[in-house]
Amino acid sequence: MNLLRFDSEPAWVNGATTFWRDRLRLNPRLRMCLPTGHTPNAIYAEMAGAVQRKEVSFQQAAIFTLDEFGGLAPDDPGRCINMLKRHLLDHADLPAKQFYALNPDARDLDAECRAFEAAAGGPFDLVLLGIGLNGHLGMNEPGSGAGSETRRVDLHEITINSSARYVTHQQLPRWGLTVGMKQILEAKEVWLLANGERKAEIIRRTISDPMSEALPASLLRKHPNCSLFVDATAAAKLHS
Ligand code: GLP
Repeated sequence: MNLLRFDSEPAWVNGATTFWRDRLRLNPRLRMCLPTGHTPNAIYAEMAGAVQRKEVSFQQAAIFTLDEFGGLAPDDPGRCINMLKRHLLDHADLPAKQFYALNPDARDLDAECRAFEAAAGGPFDLVLLGIGLNGHLGMNEPGSGAGSETRRVDLHEITINSSARYVTHQQLPRWGLTVGMKQILEAKEVWLLANGERKAEIIRRTISDPMSEALPASLLRKHPNCSLFVDATAAAKLHS
């Protein structure tokens, strides 16, 4: 795993956005899988600004959502699709037909997941990831093996409680749909993004603990082209 450590949060945002812009310029047809949550929002804002300044374009690209909460109303601001729209898609130039989301309201969730994987059609070019406090990726909770597919999952208590930061009510989501570890690990390139001191301990464990499905983020260490983007506070427990 490559380690990219930035001295400040603005430098981290700028660094990740610069790399991302370059990837998209080199390959305008880039097929990306993108996370939501709080971590990527400043990067999405920078990227949206670059699109508006016509420095880069999503017109030929494709974007797939990484995960989605179940049990929330379609217009709930905490739905991943709504977060992604609010922070990136509403301000970018991606054609709607090149956006693919996991739909937790589908009648047959297994068929929905298989259709999503079929739409992806092969390895993603680039997967961006945040990290949960228990080391989850997307909604691949501890116990998710390297071969786990896109599927319905029950959320762990810590993840349910964390989701309170995204919704404005008490009905917290208890399950979701997630791209599986298999599709993440098969991607051509993976970036794990982490900022802030609340992520420092799980970042330390991701790098130092034994590689195990008990800590899904640690499985990224076997990926041949994975980079960890951390700001100084998230990197605070890493030894040089
Ligand atoms: C959530 C999401 C993940 C996200 C992670 C971190 O549960 N399912 O996709 O990356 O937890 O969230 P945040 O960036 O808000 O800390």
